Amino acid sequence: MSAPLVLGLDLGTTGARAAAVDASGAVRAVHESAYPLHTPRPGWAEQAPQDWDAAAFDALAAAAARAGRPADVCAIGLTGQMHGLTLLDAAHRPLRPALLWCDLRTAPQRRELEDSLGVPALIRHTGNLPLEGFQSPKLAWVRAHEPELLARTAHVLLPKDFIRLRLSGELATDVSDASGTGYFDAAARRWSPAMLEHLQIDPAWLPDVRESVEPAGRLAPAAARRLGLRPGIPIAAGAGDQPAGAVAAGILADGDALVTIGSSGVVFAAARTYAAAPDGRVQAGAHAAPGTWCLMGVTQAAGLSLRWLRQTFAPAASYAELTAEAQAAPPGSRGLLWLPYLQGERTPHLDADARGALIGLTTAHTRADVVRAVLEGVAFSLRDAAAAIAATGARLRRLHLAGGGARSPLWRQIVADVFHAPVRLEPEGRGPAVGAALLGAVAAGLFADIQEASAAAARPRGTVDPDPAAAPVLRDAYARYRRLYPALTPPSHAAAAAQAAGR
Ligand code: XUL
Repeated sequence: MSAPLVLGLDLGTTGARAAAVDASGAVRAVHESAYPLHTPRPGWAEQAPQDWDAAAFDALAAAAARAGRPADVCAIGLTGQMHGLTLLDAAHRPLRPALLWCDLRTAPQRRELEDSLGVPALIRHTGNLPLEGFQSPKLAWVRAHEPELLARTAHVLLPKDFIRLRLSGELATDVSDASGTGYFDAAARRWSPAMLEHLQIDPAWLPDVRESVEPAGRLAPAAARRLGLRPGIPIAAGAGDQPAGAVAAGILADGDALVTIGSSGVVFAAARTYAAAPDGRVQAGAHAAPGTWCLMGVTQAAGLSLRWLRQTFAPAASYAELTAEAQAAPPGSRGLLWLPYLQGERTPHLDADARGALIGLTTAHTRADVVRAVLEGVAFSLRDAAAAIAATGARLRRLHLAGGGARSPLWRQIVADVFHAPVRLEPEGRGPAVGAALLGAVAAGLFADIQEASAAAARPRGTVDPDPAAAPVLRDAYARYRRLYPALTPPSHAAAAAQAAGR
């Protein structure tokens, strides 16, 4: 074998993305293969595991072929959308379409779980509330609405682990993805017996849990033939997409934090010791590096806010044009404030009925002001998420920025200004699939540990320093922003109720 290659697979929400990475962490080839997301009713979100299978195999085979040396692929690492529920029968056949992380049908089940167990016990057992997207309220929903399926259930898997099953025949998951089920004890890094009992989950349904860097399955001969790869290569346990993205960006040590502006926005902090928020406002989990943990806060509509604005009011303008135009608006957007709650909000409000708002409009405002206000509002929401993480005692000392939003020079500057801290820019295209490949590289023994792999691979492309002149204006704007959510909650909830009633 010449220079080894590792494949990382990210089973995302819109498609599967595979990256072929070499031993220096350089990306040699990438391939994406899309699949549909089904919304049979408003607020529902489902995907067919068979679609995942087809796209994952297509992406892996194409990335390996494009890299030119399929015979040199010595490991695969898996990552993907977290939280989704895949139910299989004893013959490993999907019993229904998977319920995804963004499926919100489970609000009543979440309330029932919170009422029956109480927030302190939920946090003690899992570190998390049973958020709508998590598996625990989804299983309760299936029990209530499709009990005949639960009677035939033999296995419960997270999305990426369905692909592991297809690749290797092995039923396994990793500690970071398991942390997003709602019945995993993130502190102890094992399933929570108390939660399994309360949720009436048969432990035999659940896969073995491994550390992210451990091998969990080997490529089976039939799958190897489908992919054109060597059989028997190890498949790393892998990680959820956020922890895997953090691995790619080198976010492994205490104090390192990653701000990602994709459709949604995430603040992800690595921690050496376990901590959870007593009120569950941030997600707590085991991180992909053994013996480390993470805390995560989510802005539901980050890039989505800008996409909505463009599609609705400026479809002829490109994102680059809109954000370049917004450079003309001053910091603070001349008093305009954007509340990005187009899809409710996760952190810090955990309120699916929160609603978006643009406050402070006058006839003097221009499109540039509005665009800038949207970028600032998203950054304020991310700052709220960071504050909720910091309230657990975690430190966020070194900020990194990644995701499509980081492409805009203005948005990068706004994040640095709103956080009032230097922000290190992550190179484009080094997302979760690359993190998964690095976990695969450790599983294959190419590196001693993930810290070594990540240090070899992570290459920030520069730093954005905060502009001292913007600081006082944005501090004042953020203080006004923080007053909006409580003030607007009654009308927002009334609007949500009217929308639910179809009015
Ligand atoms: C994390 C989360 C998303 C999904 C889909 O909590 O909900 O990152 O994993 O990307």
